[in-house]
Amino acid sequence: MAAMRVNENFFCLVIVCLALSAAGCASSAQKPAPTGAVPVRVLYERNCAVCHGPQGQGTQLGTMKIPPLSSGAALTDPDEKFLKQINDGGNGMPPFKYTLDDKQINDLVRFVREEIQGRK
Ligand code: HEC
Repeated sequence: MAAMRVNENFFCLVIVCLALSAAGCASSAQKPAPTGAVPVRVLYERNCAVCHGPQGQGTQLGTMKIPPLSSGAALTDPDEKFLKQINDGGNGMPPFKYTLDDKQINDLVRFVREEIQGRK
């Protein structure tokens, strides 16, 4: 009889373990994608379009003139200048090095060149 009880308890334990591990699986499947996986277009729309415009055309925000990324100096300014500006900001643009990682910032420079300026 005592042996029977131990078996029952063991059986319960197995059920509980299975339930827990299944729950573990389910919750890891629902984890939101890590931020590195956010597509660069979404990064641009969230962080940059408010000032530079969805097509990078630039705009006037109150007294601040936002330069276009699709024309003008941005066409000839080198990648290094873009990287520095996006990392450190300046003249009205906030720095992004605290909220975006190096890869995201590099992706944004490529996005400006390829999608906004149409250079492949
Ligand atoms: C608050 C408005 C604002 C936001 C948001 C903003 N910018 Fe800017 N950006 C500016 C201003 C203003 C300048 C011009 C700075 C200057 O004259 O030195 C600028 C300059 C730049 C330049 C340099 C252009 C050139 O001709 O060399 C790049 C590249 C750039 N921004 C990219 C971005 C990217 C990418 C984002 C998003 C991660 C972004 N900006 C977000 C306002 C903004």
